[in-house]
Amino acid sequence: MRTYLVTGGAGFIGSNYIHYMFEKYGDEIRIINVDALTYAGNPENLKDIEGRDNYTFIKADITDREAIEDIFDKNDIDRVVHFAAESHVDRSITDPEVFVKTNVLGTLVMLNAAKKAWENPDGSFKEGKKFLHVSTDEVYGSLSDPDDYFYETTPYDPHSPYSASKASSDFIVKAYMDTYRFPANITNCSNNYGPYQFPEKLIPLMINNALSGRDLPVYGDGKNVRDWLYVEDHAKGIDMVQEKGRLFETYNIGGHNEKQNIEIVNIIIETLLELLPADDPRRKNVGTHLIKYVTDRKGHDRRYAIAPDKIKSELGWEPETMFAQGIKKTIKWYLEHEEWMQNIVNGDYMNYYDKMYGDR
Ligand code: NAD
Ligand code: DAU
Repeated sequence: MRTYLVTGGAGFIGSNYIHYMFEKYGDEIRIINVDALTYAGNPENLKDIEGRDNYTFIKADITDREAIEDIFDKNDIDRVVHFAAESHVDRSITDPEVFVKTNVLGTLVMLNAAKKAWENPDGSFKEGKKFLHVSTDEVYGSLSDPDDYFYETTPYDPHSPYSASKASSDFIVKAYMDTYRFPANITNCSNNYGPYQFPEKLIPLMINNALSGRDLPVYGDGKNVRDWLYVEDHAKGIDMVQEKGRLFETYNIGGHNEKQNIEIVNIIIETLLELLPADDPRRKNVGTHLIKYVTDRKGHDRRYAIAPDKIKSELGWEPETMFAQGIKKTIKWYLEHEEWMQNIVNGDYMNYYDKMYGDR
């Protein structure tokens, strides 16, 4: 039975990936999920998986070398899928240090532990072992020409402390591939949306604020463009790259779904009004009157857009969920999981919110 070590599996994409993998492979695989349970890690995301015999959760920090080596010593790991990271750009602007620690040092610790466990005495690597580093399109910087896209060959040009830390981690993975022929892949994906996303991010933040009648804080002129992908399509892409991709290669993942932020906010309002029953008390809160243009994010990248040509032509990957369908599914999920959101909002979240948005 193949054993996966997933880092950051209690977060947004990691938990969706674990759900996807068990749905696809059932009892054919075993997953060990290593997560430090930072503010972004939520065991509730995996509630329905907890009882499985082929699933293990280990609370550990990826920067803790001993803890990570211990996991490799005690388990014959075949695949690493490395999600764990500090992921929010706004937080990286106010507190960059933890981004460098987790994203850069944490990735190095993961690479070293896997290398130590997988390396043969002659410097080659045991058959079938693979490491996949999950990265972002933000490493490529910002597109100014409207006809331009991010290709795997686009030079790195990160701007935020978050994207700089992810770029650094990508380069370390690349260095291990180039220097040791360490068996890895890198994927660079565009903005994800879907269930279990922490409400510091645009889409769940706007849904949560609209339902509770709070302002919808749109940064700058609202015309920054992001390229949105339904999270399950990302999970599928990661699995395809690890199973069918050429080792040592980078694959961009994105579904050609560019939207201005203000368009997203308007779609959320329209969809909420469509889905909320007439007698739902939350309905009266929702409307465009909530939109508030606020001080822009520092160094705000203008446009991201992925060219997914390589993953499409080499591996046959294509997004299955179109945005109109995906955003409806996502909003429905948040409406049906009010308690999930409330548990977050009742924690430390409002302190974060007041600090981040208080004087914007
Ligand atoms: P997230 O913030 O929702 O989850 C991150 C997870 O990592 C959490 O469970 C957290 O507890 C864990 N974690 C953080 N620091 C840790 C540490 N030191 N040790 C162990 N666990 C730790 O993030 P996400 O949005 O799910 O992103 C996952 C990965 O995908 C990240 O590497 C991110 O850069 C990348 N990515 C995200 C997007 C997106 O749109 N969200 C797009 C492309 C790539
Ligand atoms: O592109 C991939 C990246 O997408 C990932 O690597 C990151 O981990 C992920 O957080 C995401 O980064 P963004 O900065 O694009 O996502 P965020 O949801 O924070 O913001 C999306 C856009 O919406 C961005 O242009 C900023 C804007 N925004 C965001 C928030 C939270 C607002 O206008 N108002 C807000 O309150």
